[in-house]
Amino acid sequence: MLQFRKEISALLAALTGMETQEIESSLEVPPAPEMGQYAFPCFLLSRRLKKPPPAIAEELASKIEPGEYLERAENKGPYLNFFVRVPQLARRLLPEVITADENYGRLNRGEGKTVLVDFSAPNIAKPFGVGHLRSTVIGNALYRIYKALGYRVVGINHLGDWGTQFGKLIVAFRRWGEQAELEKDPVHYLYHLYVHFHQEAEKDPSLEEEARTQFRNLEKGDRDALELWKGFRSLSLEEFQRLYRFMGIEFDSYHGESFYNDRIEETIKLLQEKGLATESQGALVADLEPYGLPSCLLRKSDGAALYITRDLTAAIYRFETYGFAKLFYVVGAEQTLHFKQLFKILELLGLPWAGDCFHVPFGLIYFKDGRMSTREGKVIFLEEVLTRARELAFEIIKEKNPSLAHKEEVARKVGLGAVIFGDLINDRIKDVEFDWEKVLDFSGETAPYIQYSHARICSILRRGEESSQAFLRPDGTANAVAPEELPDTGLLSSLEEQELLITMARFQEAVIRSAEELRPSVLARYLVELARDFNKFYHNRPVLTAEGELKEARLLLISSVRIMLRNGLELLGVEAPEEM
Ligand code: ARG
Repeated sequence: MLQFRKEISALLAALTGMETQEIESSLEVPPAPEMGQYAFPCFLLSRRLKKPPPAIAEELASKIEPGEYLERAENKGPYLNFFVRVPQLARRLLPEVITADENYGRLNRGEGKTVLVDFSAPNIAKPFGVGHLRSTVIGNALYRIYKALGYRVVGINHLGDWGTQFGKLIVAFRRWGEQAELEKDPVHYLYHLYVHFHQEAEKDPSLEEEARTQFRNLEKGDRDALELWKGFRSLSLEEFQRLYRFMGIEFDSYHGESFYNDRIEETIKLLQEKGLATESQGALVADLEPYGLPSCLLRKSDGAALYITRDLTAAIYRFETYGFAKLFYVVGAEQTLHFKQLFKILELLGLPWAGDCFHVPFGLIYFKDGRMSTREGKVIFLEEVLTRARELAFEIIKEKNPSLAHKEEVARKVGLGAVIFGDLINDRIKDVEFDWEKVLDFSGETAPYIQYSHARICSILRRGEESSQAFLRPDGTANAVAPEELPDTGLLSSLEEQELLITMARFQEAVIRSAEELRPSVLARYLVELARDFNKFYHNRPVLTAEGELKEARLLLISSVRIMLRNGLELLGVEAPEEM
């Protein structure tokens, strides 16, 4: 595994006495290759040593010894710039990539430690909001990335399948509902009933009371109410699962909120034992004011439990069931307070793992397309987004490549990829303005751009194979062969090749940083850069018309790029078609 960052950090740690970790996270990638491949800013050391940064950079530069991969270090102003020996790098990296092939990027950093990712979690009967789309996409990327890094990952869909909305639905369904309509299109239909209920309740407030009664019945285990609820739940779940399948997303558990119903009492008892639940007008409250947080309701006076009570119960259940090292909640930033309260209560309960729970928040998406922005601009139906993505991609593909076979299938991958990547490329905490034109731009910072670069390489490789390269299979994929049979990578010495190789050497680092910083955008941005470097190379250097061994070396180079683009996209939940 190539990790210059590690190597350089170790060198610097020995010279400066700084922590390797600290150095690693402060290393930067210089803006131009003439400045080397890594830069160490000396400002922090300057403050500590009370010496000007350029003096420190100069002193360090004189002490750095070249190594197997490190050619030299040069000081430039306040920076210490590192130069890598590119030929050595190529000799080691390229065979490694084509040998590992679909496993390239997989590591055993996690050593089987368990990580739980709580993501997607739509609410049955309420619309699948934009927040759920973002959670689905970000959570799935983190799920895949952690898995690739050797963790045992459990994906949990904490379905919103319990709560007062079911009282409303039961009332609405009994009054105005039709089973056949429900079965035809459950997600839309339940939402329609839900909206209708609110309209009617404005005219006739007694409906609200009726809904509360129905929810109480449900909580008490009333058979008819439960029967209806079960139907709503399973029909909606089927529909969601169809969409998840379409997106290539899987969950290991669908234990939603309702699953915890018969464990709630135990949680309440525990809270009371620890003196964390105080009675207030018949309700139970956790007083969090001493910790600078608003207090929260744990149980209403009518006995109904709340979202947070179910989350407390779920966290405890999860630890008992999986013994996680980390639990990530991929949920919108608007629930930050909820998670602060949740984690605080877990901590006050004295649970040693409370500190291993993390909220992974994200901002909102605004759809620029009027068709997608319903009431308040927050409500979308996932299905509409996916259908529209496929249609738009189909149009573009039909125009760009009329003779392409399997256009439908390619359009699915490209449209879906555009939506997923269009989300992931953004820093997750920021609000995103979702613009169809932008996410489908074949030359922008998009999935289609990367997919197109990948397909382009596949096409070159298919043609390259005709001139019978030992390491290429008939379908253009690379064949694992002994390193001595591989073309001489030392021939890859042009500026474009060097730049490309150096970017390639950062693949693994991008995957690791995405996981550690819980930011799939790191990997997404990296892939754009890799595709750009490839295109720049290909624009300036011929592959198929290059001479002899140089041609072979270049074919080897691009088959490695192909593997990285494909594997990288896959980690983000995006497929890479071989033709498009
Ligand atoms: N269903 C919730 C909502 O839509 C999200 C659940 C997130 N997970 C959790 N354990 N609270 O707001």
